[in-house]
Parts: sequence; structure tokens; C-alpha cells
Amino acid sequence: MVNFEAMDEVHREEVALINHLGSLITTGLDSTPDTNAITAKLYEWVEHTRAHFDSENRMMETHGFPPYPVHRAEHELMLSKIESQQQQWLNEKELNQLAEFIFVVWREWFDAHVKSMDTVTARFLSQVM
Ligand SMILES: [Fe+2]
Ligand SMILES: [Fe+2]
Repeated sequence: MVNFEAMDEVHREEVALINHLGSLITTGLDSTPDTNAITAKLYEWVEHTRAHFDSENRMMETHGFPPYPVHRAEHELMLSKIESQQQQWLNEKELNQLAEFIFVVWREWFDAHVKSMDTVTARFLSQVM
């Protein structure tokens, strides 16, 4: 939680989506993956992430947050990694690779990003909005 409702709400939605996707992946690793369900939930999560990053970028730009370019660059880099994972999944359906990305790479990134960039941004926005 970054104590700024507009951002916390989006983060809660994102975590709910990733938990759902994560349980589809875990079940798939134990038995036969439901590839259609994973594809659909992955799509939903990618679209949500895009909207999430766009909304933060817009608020930072509108309110003149000085380190906006740095925060936006972190979003762009992660979004490109997410998009290539999605492409990997669509082309190869390599579940272990998707699992590694979601459970390790993305999880660590999200945790660190919320604690740093998003927390500093929220502190700024809550003073100017
Ligand atoms: Fe965020
Ligand atoms: Fe962010």
C-alpha cells in the first residue's frame, strides 16, 4: 500500500489478477495446463498493467512530478518484458518460463517498484491533488 487510494486500488486489482493467473499456472504445472484460461487471464493482466502504468504516467505528467521520466522508463521496460513473455506464451506455450517470470521476475520487480517509485510518487501526488 502506498497510501494514495487511486494507486492502491489499481494495485489491489493487479494483485488479484496475478493471484488468479498464478493459481492457473500452479495447477497447470501439477497437471494439464488449461491453456485457454491462462491465455485469457494473461491477456486481462497485460491490459490491466498497461492501463495501470498509463494512469500513473498521466498523473505524474499532469502534476509535474520531477522524476516522471525515470518512473515512466521503469514502466516501459517492464511492459516490454511482459509483452515478450505474453508472445512467448502465445507462440510456444512454455509454462515453466511463464511461471518463472510471474513468480520470480515480476513479483520481485513489483514489490521493489511499489516500495520505491510508486511510494515516492504517491507521496508527491497526495500533496498536489
Ligand atoms: Fe503502480
Ligand atoms: Fe509505477
